[in-house]
Amino acid sequence: MQRRRFLMGMAAAPLLWHANDARALDNGLALTPPMGWNSWNCFRAEIDEEKILSIAEAMVSSGMKDAGYEYVILDDGWQTAERDSGGRIQPNSVKFPGGMNALSDSIHALGLKFGIYSSPSYTSCEGLMGSRGHEQRDADDFAAWGVDYLKYDWCKFEGSEAECRAAFELMRDCLAKTGRPIVYSAHDKCTEGSESGGLPWIREVANLHRVSPDIKDDWNRMLECIDAGVELYEFAGPGYWNDPDMLEVGSFGKDLTERFTRRGYRAMTLNEYRTHFSLWCIASAPLIAGNDLRCMPPDIAAILTNPGAVAINQDPLGAQGRPVKTRDGVQLWFKPKSGERSCAALAVNRGDETASFSLDLEALLLGPGRYAARDVWTGETFALDAEGLALNGIEPHGCVLLSIEPAE
Ligand code: GLA
Repeated sequence: MQRRRFLMGMAAAPLLWHANDARALDNGLALTPPMGWNSWNCFRAEIDEEKILSIAEAMVSSGMKDAGYEYVILDDGWQTAERDSGGRIQPNSVKFPGGMNALSDSIHALGLKFGIYSSPSYTSCEGLMGSRGHEQRDADDFAAWGVDYLKYDWCKFEGSEAECRAAFELMRDCLAKTGRPIVYSAHDKCTEGSESGGLPWIREVANLHRVSPDIKDDWNRMLECIDAGVELYEFAGPGYWNDPDMLEVGSFGKDLTERFTRRGYRAMTLNEYRTHFSLWCIASAPLIAGNDLRCMPPDIAAILTNPGAVAINQDPLGAQGRPVKTRDGVQLWFKPKSGERSCAALAVNRGDETASFSLDLEALLLGPGRYAARDVWTGETFALDAEGLALNGIEPHGCVLLSIEPAE
């Protein structure tokens, strides 16, 4: 039924992909999925001025900035557990002796943007200061610090779903009142498991919304995160994106504490990182790296900065790609792009044996004709027509990501 509705919509006109009428947050931001780096996966709460500045510099020198990454985002751990005597949220002065304005100026001087973290609760997940009861004061301070992106994280919010919604709406309005353009990233866990799942209302409130559990550097957990947003594809588009959490590409198991390794979690391989990135690209997910950019090996940089993969993610139509077919353990994803009869396709081998997949125009919801398919990871180009295209030898947990354009 779901698939039938999907096919009918596509056959009529690709733009019907956005079947939902609720408007996305109209702040003119995040017209394509935000790209940047966040401190949590790499450092947890152990962040400081020196680390963040060296990461920002590495974002430029590694080629990440040129590839499109722009936000440097402090996650939990930048703030103290108490407000100052004037009731203001304050940075931990041991970790950030220069203060937030100096840090923000240095990030901006590199041509990058500055992001910060807070919570609609009294405290953050780390037990540090949240914004509850001080929303406008905090939003004003964030704006005065030159903040360009706020991650607003549900942590420890006590209250009903309606109160939770009101808390996220309140911060949206406070940010708007500052007059500064600030991308608003919401993690509204208070509606988790509820019938609405936070949608569609959250798309009028925030530019992105976490739809998954916390990601880990582990193949199965990564799949759990991307799968969590699959059915929400029709809500995504310019101004609002479903967020399956930050990238683990190049984490090398850094976030796998013993609690997780005991449960069988293990760091992803290079092949799995490539598939992880391909999934985030075709699903129009925010591309927020979480690895240590200061010591990023070339093969990891080659994944995160692949121009073909990033272009698929940043396509201005803003459709969220989704799986359309699974055969022999290979899942085929399809994403329409802005050019006429132009799309992206991703074949993911979720199984443990090498597999093949035969791609056909019908599976890709493409009309008859001749197409050129470019494999963004190998650079090879293939002809695709009514005969179809055989994708052979897809390694276990590997993938083929294709950018497809009409050949005429
Ligand atoms: C939650 C979020 C994470 C991170 C931590 C910080 O777990 O889901 O992304 O922000 O809080 O404490």
